[in-house]
Amino acid sequence: MANQPSETDSGPATEESDRYASRVDEKLAKMGAALDNNEVLLEILHDKDIFEQELDRIFGQTWVYIGHESEIPEKGDYRRRYIGKDPFIFVRDENGDVQVLWDSCRHRGATVCRAEKGNTTHFRCAYHGWTYRNTGELIGVPQKGEGFPDLDPDQKGLHKAPNVESYHGLVFAAIAPDVPDLEEFLGPATWYLDLYFKFIDMEVIGDPHRWEVDTDWKTPAENFAGDNYHIPMGHKSAIDVGIGSETAKGNKESDLYAITGHNGHNFSIYQIPGEDFFWGHPPEIVETFNEDSLTDEQYEVARQSGVSLGTIFPNLSFIHLGGSNDPDKPPVGLLSLRQWQPVEPGKMEAWSWTLAPKDAPEEYKARVHEVGTGTFSPSGNFEVDDVGIWNGIPDSAESVFAEKVDATTVFSMGSGDGAVAEIDEGWPGPGTAYIEGGKTDVNQRDYYRQWHETMSKEE
Ligand code: FES
Ligand SMILES: [Fe+2]
Repeated sequence: MANQPSETDSGPATEESDRYASRVDEKLAKMGAALDNNEVLLEILHDKDIFEQELDRIFGQTWVYIGHESEIPEKGDYRRRYIGKDPFIFVRDENGDVQVLWDSCRHRGATVCRAEKGNTTHFRCAYHGWTYRNTGELIGVPQKGEGFPDLDPDQKGLHKAPNVESYHGLVFAAIAPDVPDLEEFLGPATWYLDLYFKFIDMEVIGDPHRWEVDTDWKTPAENFAGDNYHIPMGHKSAIDVGIGSETAKGNKESDLYAITGHNGHNFSIYQIPGEDFFWGHPPEIVETFNEDSLTDEQYEVARQSGVSLGTIFPNLSFIHLGGSNDPDKPPVGLLSLRQWQPVEPGKMEAWSWTLAPKDAPEEYKARVHEVGTGTFSPSGNFEVDDVGIWNGIPDSAESVFAEKVDATTVFSMGSGDGAVAEIDEGWPGPGTAYIEGGKTDVNQRDYYRQWHETMSKEE
């Protein structure tokens, strides 16, 4: 009597979900204890239950980056994007408004957008032909009169991400209904983002590079949050041949500040004292920037900025630097925006966009793109260094041995008596700034604390 429910029918499923919950809780408890000791539980970088919970509790709960408004400048322009692993359409509708539509037909769930990018007034599902405006509104149902007389199209438009906001062109969405405003979520990070996106009208050049990496999505997020001390070792070969930022090559003396923000957003800012450097943008390009958009304090930080980098929790990072892919060519100011997308336990997809000042001459933008491709892209000199190292981490993280010994990794740099990375009370910006930012893991610890807190929160 297979169709007769019995008391035991829900048994295995409940047992399975209990096993899952208690296993995740156990790992989170171990992670909490590790963090108290300035360490991180290695297993969280390759574990299927943790990964599943991340999709729900992190990507399902918080603001996630979708794209830059300059990627969809015209009405009807669209791009396919993801929140965690969920597909969305990032589209500028016929009214000029930005929409983030869940790419799932309301009829049977087929995806309605079959291209990575394009321009369209409508999305027509390839299965039975239901047709939606680029606002998400359902306007066409074949055989509606004869087949679906009671169907109300107003009730069957494409679902939308309930929260979509833009911060100076950076569009974020959250699929949880109740989230703080984007600006509240970003908090002090807005002061720093203003330096790159309010001061400069940035534009995405070309399409994003995308490539899979056998590493967990948190590893590069943590790296961009503040791991500046891997550069002399991990990127030595690139620097030796004269590629990289002026500060990394030692052509410019700089002070490095590690800045811990709020909600897991962290920055590293190299300052070249007294110099008008503006991340390597030449004076004729700097003239096009919006000088009046910054406070005096922000302008001073922008002026002396060598390399700036950081991570907006959970998975958006950036690096803005004066660099070159060729020792014989002068540096340009490159802004590389990157997103670390979860694919499966121990595997992620990197997305990388090159941005340049919108008002710069086309030759300059082309050169920025060339430098971006030569440094931070799947074939870039810097990128390949990191990828070739990061891919070993998930192998050890998933090992039986890691579980047997509760293996942890060390994030204690900069703590303890005698550590030189001290709080700089005179730093003009918000958050907590540390001098000697290359000798501390403070940002990375903050990133993992935020991860732990978000993962541990009851819905
Ligand atoms: S699944 Fe889209 S029209 Fe049927
Ligand atoms: Fe690196």
